[in-house]
Amino acid sequence: MRIAVLISGHGSNLQALIDAVNSKKLDAKIELVLSSNSKALGLERAKKAKIPNFSLPLKNRDNFILEKLAEHKIELVILAGYLKKISAEILEKYRGRVINIHPSLLPKFGGKGMYGMNVHQAVIEAGEKKSGATVHLVTGDYDQGPILAQREVLIEKQDTAEILAAKVLKIEHQLFIDAISKFLSNLRKK
Ligand code: GRF
Repeated sequence: MRIAVLISGHGSNLQALIDAVNSKKLDAKIELVLSSNSKALGLERAKKAKIPNFSLPLKNRDNFILEKLAEHKIELVILAGYLKKISAEILEKYRGRVINIHPSLLPKFGGKGMYGMNVHQAVIEAGEKKSGATVHLVTGDYDQGPILAQREVLIEKQDTAEILAAKVLKIEHQLFIDAISKFLSNLRKK
């Protein structure tokens, strides 16, 4: 399975996927990394792993994505910290084949503006006892596609948004790999 990973930042999830492919825990190949931010650390991770990587242009971003996906014969698109909205055209071409990871227990704390520390801040302010991460299929609406997998973390009274962010990120990597592996094996059974 030929995978593209779209990122905007640090790329720790991308790194987890690269490591999982290299250690054969994930039966797929990352053929392309695209970043909406030219300074993203994730681009360095891709370079180091010798994966073709590009930062997205400001204009005609979605056309550029479509071109690259076609050029690299991509079959599955993974959003790993990608902050831009995916165009309807891409979703049409890759229907049911775009997967995202979100740092909350969706449907709670999802939607427009709910990314990064905003999510964890909102969870703490709401006095939640638990949070976690969700892997889901991407549809036209932010964070609303069918859920593939979720994992929880407990929130202690003294936890700040920063502490919660670290707790969630720690469980994200394995969750992402497990969810993608399961998704791929279900695809192969079809
Ligand atoms: C993760 O928390 C992920 O859930 C969210 O963006 C963050 C990306 O982190 N969508 P990284 O760039 O993979 O380190």
